[in-house]
Amino acid sequence: MEVTDAIRNRKSTRTFLDKPVSDELISDVLECARWAPSGVNSQPWHVAIVTGETKLKVGKALAKLRADGAKARQDYEYYPTQIEEPYITRKRACAHALYNALGIKRNDIEKRKAQWMKNYHGFGSPVTLLFFIDAILEKGSWVDAGMFIQNVMLAARGFSLETCPQAALAEYPDVIRKILNIPDSKKLICGMALGYADYDDPSYQYRTEREPVENFTQWYS
Ligand SMILES: Cc1cc2nc3c(=O)[nH]c(=O)nc-3n(C[C@H](O)[C@H](O)[C@H](O)COP(=O)(O)O)c2cc1C
Repeated sequence: MEVTDAIRNRKSTRTFLDKPVSDELISDVLECARWAPSGVNSQPWHVAIVTGETKLKVGKALAKLRADGAKARQDYEYYPTQIEEPYITRKRACAHALYNALGIKRNDIEKRKAQWMKNYHGFGSPVTLLFFIDAILEKGSWVDAGMFIQNVMLAARGFSLETCPQAALAEYPDVIRKILNIPDSKKLICGMALGYADYDDPSYQYRTEREPVENFTQWYS
């Protein structure tokens, strides 16, 4: 696959086939992704690969917390508490595109909620990846980790797999650390669903938009 194709045609995938991904293939994806750059080559990423019974256990625990109305306690704020334009419009468009593809009406709170809950089981993917970083590291290393995470998504496509990055899986990091026996010093950045996409599913039949290049650039010469 061309790298430009891997980038242009990657989509957050919220529908997966009931088809396992071999440990070898998961390792191949991570072996490719590890070539991401990082400041002074610090390689500040740590990945928990969660499958099978453990994935089910993690998914159930997170879904229960959410269903019980437990307050999310992320290791960091991914989103600001108050957002302004143009981010409000983009956020709305993002949600609208998904619900529209699924035929879920704006005011159908129950169906929206049910769709959101699918996050905790990785939208039916056989693999959940959880990305951690050492608490002692600074913002620069979080930038590095972001590059690594994007590499995982692109590398996956090279092996005919698809992904969905998931902030939802980082809402209750203490519970995840407890189940996986991961020390407090490792902070949870986000999760990711990984598997073979069900390309025919309605949730896959749309593409989010992007601003044209001239809207986010300024040339200096
Ligand atoms: C770090 C990160 C966290 C995300 N968290 C979620 C999530 O919890 N649930 C979800 O359905 N999508 C999540 N997304 C996917 C975004 O909604 C998606 O990337 C965006 O709408 C652009 O669409 P695309 O990825 O299909 O191009 C996340 C994306 C990123 C980069």
